[in-house]
Amino acid sequence: MEKAERCAIHNQRQPCGICRVLRNQRIGPEKGTGIVSAIAAIGKNRELGKGNELLWRIPDDMKRFKKLSMGHPIILGRKTFGSIVRAIGKPLPGRTNIVVTRDAKWSYDEVIVAKSLEEALEKAKGAPGSEEIIIGGGAQIYKQALPYTTRLYLTLIDDEGEADSFFPEYEDEFTIKLNEERHEWNGLKYVWVDLERT
Ligand SMILES: NC(=O)c1ccc[n+]([C@@H]2O[C@H](COP(=O)([O-])OP(=O)(O)OC[C@H]3O[C@@H](n4cnc5c(N)ncnc54)[C@H](OP(=O)(O)O)[C@@H]3O)[C@@H](O)[C@H]2O)c1
Repeated sequence: MEKAERCAIHNQRQPCGICRVLRNQRIGPEKGTGIVSAIAAIGKNRELGKGNELLWRIPDDMKRFKKLSMGHPIILGRKTFGSIVRAIGKPLPGRTNIVVTRDAKWSYDEVIVAKSLEEALEKAKGAPGSEEIIIGGGAQIYKQALPYTTRLYLTLIDDEGEADSFFPEYEDEFTIKLNEERHEWNGLKYVWVDLERT
C-alpha cells in the first residue's frame, strides 16, 4: 500500500487539518484554524510541578505567560485549571478557557468544557484569537498536545526540584530557535526560549 503523505509539523495526513502543510511546504493556517503553541516553565529535568502546584513562581515569567496567552483560547487540563482557580480565584481573564476533563458533570462559569484534547482543539478554533491556540498544561495535556504543537514558548529554569509532573521530551523535534533571552531573578537563572518544529 502506498505510504500516505503526512504533514511535517503535526504528523497528520495531508492536507493537515491544523496548518495545511502541503507536500512539506508550509502554506499557513487554514481559515478558522490556527497554530498551536505551548507555554511552559520547566526545570533541568523538565519538571513542571508537584502536588498540583508550580515549582517556581518568577514574577516576570508570569507576566510573559500573560502577555503570550492574552486574547487567545487556552487549553488546560482539569487539574491545572483547578490550581489556577485556587491561585487567582477565577479562570484566566481575557482568554477563552477550555478545560479538558472526562467528567461529564464538570462545569465552571464561562469555561468551555471538552471531553478530549481533540475536542478542545476543535472548540478553540471557534474562539476569539484562534490564529494562535495556547496549550497551558499540565503534563497530561502537554504530552497529548505535542503532536499538534508547532511552537514552544519555554522557560528553562536552571534549577532542579522534586516533581510529580514533567514536560514531555521535545528536544529532538523542536530544533528551530526563534528567540533566546537569559534572565535572573533572586539568584535563579532562567532562559526564555521560543522553538519551532524542524
Ligand atoms: N510549569 C508550568 O509551566 C506548568 C504549567 C501548567 C501546569 N503545571 C503543573 O502541572 C501539574 C498538573 O499536570 P497533570 O498532568 O497532573 O494534570 P493536567 O494535565 O492539568 O490535568 C489532567 C486532567 O485532565 C483531564 N484529561 C487529561 N487527558 C484527557 C483526555 N484525553 N480526555 C479527557 N480529559 C483528559 C483529566 O481530568 P479529569 O480527572 O477531570 O477527567 C485529567 O485528570 C501541576 O503540578 C501544575 O502546577 C505546570
